Amino acid sequence: MSAAHAPPVPRYDDEVVRRFALTTVLWGVVGMLVGVLIAAQLLWPVLNFDTPWLTYSRLRPLHTNAVIFAFGGSGLFATSYYIVQRTCRTSLFLPRLAMFTFWGWQAVIVAAAITLPLGITQGKEYAELEWPIDLLIAVVWVSYAVVYFGTIIKRQVDHIYVANWFFGAFILTIAVLHIVNNLSMPFSMTQSYSVYGGTVDAMVQWWYGHNAVGFFLTAGFLGMMYYFIPKQVGKPIYSYRLSIVHFWALISTYMWAGPHHLQYTSLPDWVQSLGMVFSLILLAPSWGGMINGVMTLSGAWHKLREDPILKFLIVSLSFYGMSTFEGPMMSIKTVNSLSHYTDWTIGHVHSGALGWVGLITMGSLYALIPKLYGKPAMHSIPAINLHFWLATIGIVLYIVAMWIAGVMQGLMWRATNADGTLTYSFIESLVATHPFYAVRLAGGALYLAGMVVMAWNVWKTVQGAAITIPNANVPNTQLAGALK
Ligand code: HEM
Ligand code: HEM
Repeated sequence: MSAAHAPPVPRYDDEVVRRFALTTVLWGVVGMLVGVLIAAQLLWPVLNFDTPWLTYSRLRPLHTNAVIFAFGGSGLFATSYYIVQRTCRTSLFLPRLAMFTFWGWQAVIVAAAITLPLGITQGKEYAELEWPIDLLIAVVWVSYAVVYFGTIIKRQVDHIYVANWFFGAFILTIAVLHIVNNLSMPFSMTQSYSVYGGTVDAMVQWWYGHNAVGFFLTAGFLGMMYYFIPKQVGKPIYSYRLSIVHFWALISTYMWAGPHHLQYTSLPDWVQSLGMVFSLILLAPSWGGMINGVMTLSGAWHKLREDPILKFLIVSLSFYGMSTFEGPMMSIKTVNSLSHYTDWTIGHVHSGALGWVGLITMGSLYALIPKLYGKPAMHSIPAINLHFWLATIGIVLYIVAMWIAGVMQGLMWRATNADGTLTYSFIESLVATHPFYAVRLAGGALYLAGMVVMAWNVWKTVQGAAITIPNANVPNTQLAGALK
């Protein structure tokens, strides 16, 4: 679309974006702090102080809920509301409802922070929250869908930019997953029973769990990637056609891969194999997306040296590529027989979570926050650089420690003597793992330190303190090539 024909820029509804952006940083610090605490508890179990609500089993779901839904979720709300307005050249549909989603989501987070340490849980991973909170989530999510799709419907341009496709798929799918997996019979205000039983319950749970990874931890963040990388590089996305293929291939494959979480269980064997095959296929669209993002830099590689925000965005894509290569490998039954139950899985999770989800969110917020507050750039560019290195070194320490620990555990558990007895007792494998837990703790602490640096930088930017480096690098370029 030529500039002459572009509709006038409307007044955007950014207050809700600002709030979600700031809570992303707040919940990032809190969720990662709990992560560091549970990492320390695995090293020194006395750190639960014999206090029920400080036990590992209660704090672990608090960590996962805080980082995925509070940190990741707030980041997704902020960026999706920002991007949908810019790419549709219109303000939000029902801005008050959008503000309701902000307060509703914060209420869910606070309710989770109270009930999980109290031990109130459905016992389903990533779906621990009890039914009254689940109902609130459903109301907030449907409101989110109304605002989001309403904004797309009232758009002032013909085209629906690909970032919106990814956000749209994420919003629709999470609604379906959340409602189906949480169908249950309430027994009291704090207890309910799932309508599913036995193997069916496990299957539904991991259909949910895996697609929570595919849609909550991937599709929405790809939406961020498709907007902020072209913006930050100052060029349209490398191949718009590839982005459409990427979208359809990814969403049609993810749905079938869930059984890879249930290899060697009582699930029918053919379902396990189906999960494995679809996981292997998933490598192709995942890498197609990664290549599309990275190649957007072609001809402008020098920017990677100069722009720390771009470093966050591009390095996040390399971790995306790494974890989406590792995942399909781990889904192969023979590999899974070694990796399952070990810390290898934890290493895989955090190469995706810290490397992909964390870095893309941080990079996007660094690009977004100055714009939201009318500043030419973040308060301190050196602090962004410092954050980048703390985070990157932290991730490497974390995942390398978990890979080595995981493979070692798998090999120790399966080792047998000539007479068929086990070579190692379980406690021996724990003793051998101990040093690696120390390295993971160090990596996690560095990653958290980076997040604290970010919180300080954001605080200073928002406060309107002096800007250390003038606007070296906030190109305001167009996705226009793509918006044709
Ligand atoms: C300072 C950073 C972090 C630290 C130190 C940390 C630490 C931990 C620890 C110790 C566990 C339990 C591992 C186990 O049970 O053996 C865990 C689990 C988990 N964490 Fe983190 N974490 C951090 C950041 C994150 C982030 C940013 C995300 C997501 C965006 C995340 C997502 C998860 C998930 C999904 C699990 C559950 C894994 C599973 O059940 O297989 N973590 N984390
Ligand atoms: C092509 C893409 C991917 C495939 C095929 C895949 C495959 C797998 C496999 C086979 C497991 C181990 C299941 C088990 O033994 O229990 C796993 C675990 C996991 N993956 Fe991935 N993965 C992919 C990408 C990602 C990404 C990008 C993230 C994060 C952003 C992620 C997050 C997780 C989490 C949180 C778990 C642990 C689930 C749990 O047991 O609690 N995965 N994945």
